[in-house]
Amino acid sequence: MTHAIRVHETGGPEKLRWEVVEVGKPGAGEVRLRHTAIGVDYADIYYRTGVYPTALPIVPGHEAVGIVEEVGAGVNDVSIGDRVAYVTQEIGAYAETRVIPSRHLIRLPPAISDNEAAAIILKGMTVRYLVCETYNVKANDVVLVHAAAGGVGLVLCQWLKHLGATVIGTVSNEHKAELAKANGCAHTIDYTREDFVQRVHDLTDGRKVPVVYDSIGKDTFARSLDCLAPEGLLIVFGHTSGKVTPFDLMLLATKGSLYVTRPTLWSRLKNKEDLVSRANEVFSKVGEGTVRITIGQTYPLREAPRAHMDLESRKTIGTTILSV
Ligand SMILES: NC(=O)c1ccc[n+]([C@@H]2O[C@H](COP(=O)([O-])OP(=O)(O)OC[C@H]3O[C@@H](n4cnc5c(N)ncnc54)[C@H](OP(=O)(O)O)[C@@H]3O)[C@@H](O)[C@H]2O)c1
Repeated sequence: MTHAIRVHETGGPEKLRWEVVEVGKPGAGEVRLRHTAIGVDYADIYYRTGVYPTALPIVPGHEAVGIVEEVGAGVNDVSIGDRVAYVTQEIGAYAETRVIPSRHLIRLPPAISDNEAAAIILKGMTVRYLVCETYNVKANDVVLVHAAAGGVGLVLCQWLKHLGATVIGTVSNEHKAELAKANGCAHTIDYTREDFVQRVHDLTDGRKVPVVYDSIGKDTFARSLDCLAPEGLLIVFGHTSGKVTPFDLMLLATKGSLYVTRPTLWSRLKNKEDLVSRANEVFSKVGEGTVRITIGQTYPLREAPRAHMDLESRKTIGTTILSV
């Protein structure tokens, strides 16, 4: 038996229930992992609220770090006692212990702590595809990043700066503005008080930007389009304010032959090779100092409701960790 956070019906943070659950023995190709650190992602909230519909009950969570406790038949890539991390579309990370296929596991370099690995692995891989694949960022690009002081945001700003881009970041308060500036933003805009379209126009002398990284969705979508130069790309990679409502495609024509995409990390992780090579690239970016990890807040796993409450009410900075 172990403890896990389960959701039996969708709703607010109070629907995250700390329960005793049974963990079976690992089957063929599986291991049983004792978690030490779990990364919180905004997607965990989409599952809890039903924005991502799924059969219930669920244990949320896409990523964690832990120690291999038992291996099933045919597992030869990890051994009992190994320290590993995983990122997978198969939710279930909000638990003290989990059985999981070994193909999802990544060995951790000694220099990175459990909390750091849980904080960076999914977010780092996300940023990697956003800046190198969804759009190939070039030196001297001026780019707009919403929620610049968030978990993904701080990593994104640092990676963009490393590529030579000038980053304009939106944030909701002064503290977040300072943090975003310390992590690669050349300019910040408080989008709760300022007109970010006008500020982007002014900061770029009317040229606007070739790409906008928008994880806010509904509240920012239309205005993000207005920040784009002709043939610019709006990357909607999340929707913390709600899903983007349907729109007339002609809007993209009238605003200058624009592009919109809604990508997901899961399309980029097709096999173990993808997973390991991307994870190692993220770890080397951390090792060489290109990306610093900001763990803004840590909660015991059983206090996951408080973690969700703080994340949803925009109180958090950087990444949130659940410790076990
Ligand atoms: N597509 C992918 O592959 C992928 C992978 C990972 C994450 N994501 C997405 O990336 C985004 C960031 O995830 P994260 O875990 O790092 O979260 P986060 O950015 O740390 O937290 C969300 C931030 O969004 C901002 N925000 C603006 N309007 C909001 C609203 N109405 N409600 C709540 N927050 C609002 C807040 O920053 P301010 O206070 O500064 O406004 C808040 O701190 C999420 O949308 C997530 O789904 C996508």
